[in-house]
Amino acid sequence: MNVVQTVTQVRYAVAEARKQGARVGLVPTMGALHQGHAALIAAAAAECDFVVVSIFVNPLQFGPHEDYDKYPRQLSNDMALCKKQGASLIFNPSVSDMYPQKPLTHIDVDELTNGLCGASRPGHFRGVATVVAKLFNIVLPDKAYFGQKDAQQAAVLQQMVRDLNFPLELVIVPTVREADGLAISSRNAYLSAEERVGALVLYRALQQVVAAVETGERSVAKLHGQLCQMIASEPLARLDYAEIVDASTLKPVKYVTGRVLVAIAVYIGQTRLIDNVVIEAGG
Ligand code: PAJ
Repeated sequence: MNVVQTVTQVRYAVAEARKQGARVGLVPTMGALHQGHAALIAAAAAECDFVVVSIFVNPLQFGPHEDYDKYPRQLSNDMALCKKQGASLIFNPSVSDMYPQKPLTHIDVDELTNGLCGASRPGHFRGVATVVAKLFNIVLPDKAYFGQKDAQQAAVLQQMVRDLNFPLELVIVPTVREADGLAISSRNAYLSAEERVGALVLYRALQQVVAAVETGERSVAKLHGQLCQMIASEPLARLDYAEIVDASTLKPVKYVTGRVLVAIAVYIGQTRLIDNVVIEAGG
């Protein structure tokens, strides 16, 4: 498994693999890789012959007061994980490789980016869509792998692929969790031992909604109330948002029918964590 930094090098390596008839998979990441990323790479390795993992902490998707500077960077651990999961190549560009000049072209996906994380992180999805479009154009994969953990990101990128006719298939991989239910995230590393316990409130709150829907509750107002109450019961938690929306349009719904996305973002101390669950309910 090789590590390359420049656009020219990754293009050359992918072109060589293609000459051998390889199907190319891409797993875009920001590094600090964990078992969630591992599941994406393993899925790519199972379906593709040549798997590129990009590791790039993309400045364009961080707000001015977010954690761009302190975002964990640990390439040697990342290399070991990629190798173990069957990656063929790591693309680890510098900021000046990806943005040699200030980019004047951006991708804005409307509507889907208004609510949820889009509301509390203005410009975030523009940064994500723009860098992912660049990665697609650089690597030209047949398939690209993203996690359900970032449900809104997955929906936004699906829309971009459809709207702009990117000739590739997106594969969305289920959220990987710790044994106690906490969704695995690079940002979990910021949590103190006490906060790590407090962070379980996200999973508990989502599971409570699942259980309530299973016993027949369909009112989003009631479910939303329960969600907020559960989060408020954890002293270390501060709610950013809790929303119950249509799983494909991400528009608010009043009653749980069809596929709905229950998505939450919660500050545990200074650390903002997100989690979600998709519920399929009959009328
Ligand atoms: P990053 O946070 O590194 O995540 C990379 C990919 O791993 C995303 O598709 C994310 O949804 C997936 N992922 C993270 N935790 C997961 C978990 N517990 N289970 C399953 N999948 C998980 O998301 C980004 O980077 C960036 O926005 C990026 C798409 C790379 C663009 O810069």
